[in-house]
Amino acid sequence: MGKSGIKIGVLTAGGDCPGLNAAIRGVGKTAILKYGHEVIGFSSGFLGLIRNEYKQLDELALSGILTIGGTILRSSREKPFKRSEYDDYNKPEIIQENYRALGLNCLVCIGGNGTQKTAYRLSKLGLNVIGIPKTIDNDVWGTDLTFGFDSAVSIAAEAIDRLHSTANSHKRIMVVEVMGHTAGWLALHAGVAGGGDVILIPEIPYNMKVISEYLIRRLEEGKPYSIVVVAEGIELPDKKSGASRNVPAGAYIANQIFKRTGLETRETILGYIQRGGSPTARDRIVATEFGAYAAEMIHRGEYGKMTAYKGYKLEGVPLSDVAGKIKAIPREYPLISHARSLGTCFGD
Ligand code: F6P
Repeated sequence: MGKSGIKIGVLTAGGDCPGLNAAIRGVGKTAILKYGHEVIGFSSGFLGLIRNEYKQLDELALSGILTIGGTILRSSREKPFKRSEYDDYNKPEIIQENYRALGLNCLVCIGGNGTQKTAYRLSKLGLNVIGIPKTIDNDVWGTDLTFGFDSAVSIAAEAIDRLHSTANSHKRIMVVEVMGHTAGWLALHAGVAGGGDVILIPEIPYNMKVISEYLIRRLEEGKPYSIVVVAEGIELPDKKSGASRNVPAGAYIANQIFKRTGLETRETILGYIQRGGSPTARDRIVATEFGAYAAEMIHRGEYGKMTAYKGYKLEGVPLSDVAGKIKAIPREYPLISHARSLGTCFGD
């Protein structure tokens, strides 16, 4: 029991990303050292809350984890409000019971869009909940930035850097597919950082004819190779028009380019490499700030909110505003027009 008599539960849910441990440490250390609270960590996201599986997070348990990738609490995609045919019990009810039986005063949910939606629904049931946004996709509504994003951009940009030399050696078109779910933040930022010639994002509808002509033009201008960065969430033709939804976006685009230009084309799907390993310094800072700010919100009794960056300022955004929304890249996002002015093709 902490000096204050306040007990906080923390969980990490959804796909993991670099910086989760920094956030757990940020909220835990601030809660313990600054406010004298007690902190426990649920295992595997909302599953731990349902199964009452948790561990004590004292200062020692939070020591030495800042730079480590993944999450010491583990994660899962468990959605307590989604009832499957195998669930013969009421999960939200069990969560409420466990929350009360453990004597919790607050639950901190670190996660992406799905997690923030669940956090909101739990707050509507009367639990004191605070959300912390994380995801490599940077698509959580209400915050300018999520931690995990900067690390994934760096990893993807480094991979694109490496594709340049092999593409040049073989005079090939290199298509690289990056994650991002239904948003293009990761593809756009990694694409610009890695000098991608074509960048395809879900927010901008593309035309294969435009892309093919652009790639041929580059060749005619004496540029022997091209890099095409593709967000995994771009629109693909449905089965009726001959292409299967099961084909990864990168493979579909590479195939189309070869068919239309005859240029030797290869695809690389970066996949989970983008989510692994140690967070960048930037992500460590963002995660630490979100964690510390969450502990301050608990101290102020500011519940039902998610920590957020607005410009360079931290604030709490109501979970009711965040739940059910996705932050796509706005049309007028400056990086798009700046990349265009450098000659980058967005396929439109
Ligand atoms: O939301 C993060 C993310 O990595 C997406 O970019 C990707 O589409 C998805 O998770 C993959 O999820 P899973 O871990 O369930 O395979």
